Amino acid sequence: MDLGIAGKWALVCGASKGLGWGCAQALVQEGVNVLMVARGAEQLEASASKLIAEYVDSTRASVLFCAQDITTQAGRAAVFAMRRDFDIVVTNAGGPPTGDFRDWDRGAWIKAVDANMLTPIELIKATVDGMASRGFGRIVNITSSSVKAPIDVLGLSNGARSGLTGFVAGVARSPLAAQGVTINNLLPGVFDTDRIKTMLEANSQRPAKA
Ligand SMILES: NC(=O)c1ccc[n+]([C@@H]2O[C@H](COP(=O)([O-])OP(=O)(O)OC[C@H]3O[C@@H](n4cnc5c(N)ncnc54)[C@H](OP(=O)(O)O)[C@@H]3O)[C@@H](O)[C@H]2O)c1
Repeated sequence: MDLGIAGKWALVCGASKGLGWGCAQALVQEGVNVLMVARGAEQLEASASKLIAEYVDSTRASVLFCAQDITTQAGRAAVFAMRRDFDIVVTNAGGPPTGDFRDWDRGAWIKAVDANMLTPIELIKATVDGMASRGFGRIVNITSSSVKAPIDVLGLSNGARSGLTGFVAGVARSPLAAQGVTINNLLPGVFDTDRIKTMLEANSQRPAKA
C-alpha cells in the first residue's frame, strides 16, 4: 500500500534504538527522508548507516543524523539549524526512572516534565505552523500506556505524560486539523527495548510487597 508520504521530511527523536529507531526504519522504508536525533553519536551514526545501507538505494530517501540532547534548548536549536520544514515529527526521549514517589524531589519532577511534556510541546510549537501553511503535517508523540493505565512505580511518567496528553488534546481540537495537521499520541505497552530491560531489572531488585 502506498501511504503517499514518500519524499516528505520527518524528524525522529530518540532514533538510535528502540521505538524511535523502529519509526525511523518504517519511514525510510516508505521513502520518507529522515533526520534522526539521539545523544550518543556513535550508536546514532551506526543506526543511520544501517538505514542508508539497507534502504536508500531502493527508496532514494535521505538519512541525516544529529547527535543532540533533544530535551535542551541548545539541542533543539542545533536540530532546527539543519532543517525546519518537517512534514512529520516523532517526539520521543528516554522515559523517567521508576521508583517511590516519596523519594522524588522537585528536581526529579522538573526533569521528567521537561523531557516528557515540555520537550514535545516545544517541538510541536516549532513545527506545526509550517505544516499548516503547507497543508500537511503529522505529529506523533511516543508516550506510554501508563497514561491510560498508570503503573505505581512510574509516577513520574504517569504525571508528566498525562500533562502532555491534556495539552495535545486541546491543540488537536484547534483549527490545525482543518489545515491537514494531525497530532496523535502512541501509547506503547511492553516492547523489548533497552528501556524495558532496565525497568524490569530495577523492578526485580525491589523487595516484594507484603
Ligand atoms: N519499550 C517499551 O515497552 C515502552 C513502553 C512504554 C513507554 N515507552 C517509552 O517510549 C520511549 C522510548 O522507549 P524505548 O523503549 O524505545 O527506549 P530506548 O530503547 O532506551 O531508546 C531510547 C532512544 O532515545 C534516545 N534518547 C534518550 N534520551 C534522549 C534525549 N534526551 N535526547 C535525544 N535522544 C534521547 C536514546 O539514545 P541516547 O541515549 O543515545 O540519547 C535512544 O535512541 C520512552 O519514553 C519510554 O519510556 C517504552
